[in-house]
Amino acid sequence: MNDVALADDATSAMDAMYRHQRHIYDLTRKYYLLGRDGMIAGLDARPGTSVLEIGCGTGRNLIQAARTYPRARLLGVDVSHVMLASAEQSIARAGLTERVQVAHADATAFDPAKQLGVSKFDRVFISYTLSMIPAWEKVLDSAVALLAPGGQLHIVDFGGQEHFPAWFRSVLRRWLARFGVIPRDELEARLRACAARHGLQLTIMRPCLGYAQHAIVANPAADFIFVKKTAAPEISGSAA
Ligand SMILES: C[S@@+](CC[C@H](N)C(=O)[O-])C[C@H]1O[C@@H](n2cnc3c(N)ncnc32)[C@H](O)[C@@H]1O
Repeated sequence: MNDVALADDATSAMDAMYRHQRHIYDLTRKYYLLGRDGMIAGLDARPGTSVLEIGCGTGRNLIQAARTYPRARLLGVDVSHVMLASAEQSIARAGLTERVQVAHADATAFDPAKQLGVSKFDRVFISYTLSMIPAWEKVLDSAVALLAPGGQLHIVDFGGQEHFPAWFRSVLRRWLARFGVIPRDELEARLRACAARHGLQLTIMRPCLGYAQHAIVANPAADFIFVKKTAAPEISGSAA
């Protein structure tokens, strides 16, 4: 199947899932999509920076980020038209239409220059969305490629719940699976490999006793890359 067909599939699936749910989404999800506000507080988006949310849903996080960082530019993409309709309404109600822009895009085949007119971002965040995307590794790799020098990718999602009783973990996971949600237990390993490959810094946190996981991938600033590259010139020849 090509990328357009996949995007149509994901759009129909997410529209069907959220057509009615979106009306009670913000009210109900605050009880179990934990760690989102901590992640937003840690974005530290400076004036003039660009912040992208992949899988922005109802726009709840974008609105919160816009209020926390009044001089940053906020952008969001989502594959669901119905979620985007809710996001647009909420953004307008919050009086943020000038500063927060949302667009339709499938995160697995996303061209930000074409769809948003921006190609690199100072902050990218993904909140409780990787657990819903079968090709989540692909989304991770493209999110890393969207970082400007000095940029950061923040991910918050379901964690391993290791500190919870086994029955709780098993009930939670069975319930999530009914909605196509699969906690990404391999996220840390995947990020470690990616960080090593691209020379990025990785921080992993497990808020709420491991109910959630919060990862930060930092792209070194341009001057840091320059210093690193020039400070250690390549030595040719063998050591012997
Ligand atoms: C659980 S909601 C999270 C929404 C928001 N990030 C939050 O924290 O409240 C997951 C969102 O991801 C979107 N989504 C799922 N698959 C997607 C894809 N392939 N590309 C872009 N968005 C996707 C869904 O439409 C939905 O709005």
